[in-house]
Amino acid sequence: MQINSQRSSEKLASSEHHVSVLLQEVLDGLQITKNSVVVDATVGGAGHLKEFSKLLSKKGTLIGIDADPEALTRAEEALSDAKPTVVLIPGNFRDIRDHLESRDIPQITHALFDLGWSGFQLTVGRGFSFLTEEPLLMTYGIPEEETLTAKDLINSLDEDKIADIIFAYGEERFARRIAKSIVETRSEKDIETTSELAAIVKRSVPAWYRHRKTHPATKTFQALRIAVNDELEALRDGLKGAIHLLAPGGRVAVITFHSIEDRIVKRFFEGLQREGVGVPLTKKPIPPTEEEVKENPRARSAKLRVFVKS
Ligand SMILES: C[S@@+](CC[C@H](N)C(=O)[O-])C[C@H]1O[C@@H](n2cnc3c(N)ncnc32)[C@H](O)[C@@H]1O
Repeated sequence: MQINSQRSSEKLASSEHHVSVLLQEVLDGLQITKNSVVVDATVGGAGHLKEFSKLLSKKGTLIGIDADPEALTRAEEALSDAKPTVVLIPGNFRDIRDHLESRDIPQITHALFDLGWSGFQLTVGRGFSFLTEEPLLMTYGIPEEETLTAKDLINSLDEDKIADIIFAYGEERFARRIAKSIVETRSEKDIETTSELAAIVKRSVPAWYRHRKTHPATKTFQALRIAVNDELEALRDGLKGAIHLLAPGGRVAVITFHSIEDRIVKRFFEGLQREGVGVPLTKKPIPPTEEEVKENPRARSAKLRVFVKS
């Protein structure tokens, strides 16, 4: 799970920025051909995007979406001499259908969703990291344009609601204790930074939990990030939009980093199969090889599922 590998991947990310996960497996699963119309719905470090571009001819189209405009700047650089037509779209992938249809792209042949944060975002003070002192934002887009941040959530929601979020989206067994400590602390002063929140979590959990390999705040951070970005609904909307846009025979690949997301993708693809829309190509999700995990600890929790439309 992403939550198990965040600490080691944070270290890696700060020195290497972002290493694309399950790259060969995605290429094998998608089967892009030279005239394909491919959407990378999560550009990030532009690693997958660049590889897609190498497979496309002048007649192909490559569309990149990311909520973070810095990802699109990286894509522009990475694709400066790309052969296919390139369309870069700042925005949320949950609106994929509107983004493409408003640009006269009614149909696509392939899409990739590689969920979560990129290594670049861990090092720029967005509040994803509990190892450094950062403002508690946890948003993917431009901070000034975001309407909701993690700071808003933990300083305004009632204790039960905070506990529910940490339990449901982080599967954190000590959610109630952590929520109680958050509410006690904020009655003195607003909680502003990642390290303040990490310290609150640390002192609310038992000693044995504090001293495990995984940082005790990992699940709490994951949960708040999911809540702030409405990630599970965004994923459902994004998948629905991509399937609608997909041509017959087209493929969608999704890389998830925790079991809640993987379950959503699995059930979504199974539902489409029941409706006769297509078939999941992966009955079981594809994990990374041991070698990949050794080179890139963040890959440890990754799972790939691929769906083909009939
Ligand atoms: C794991 S990274 C993608 C890495 C990329 N595949 C690569 O090879 O470099 C995920 C990216 O998705 C973006 N993202 C996450 N949720 C999003 C959403 N709902 N809409 C648009 N972008 C999103 C993040 O900003 C981040 O840049």
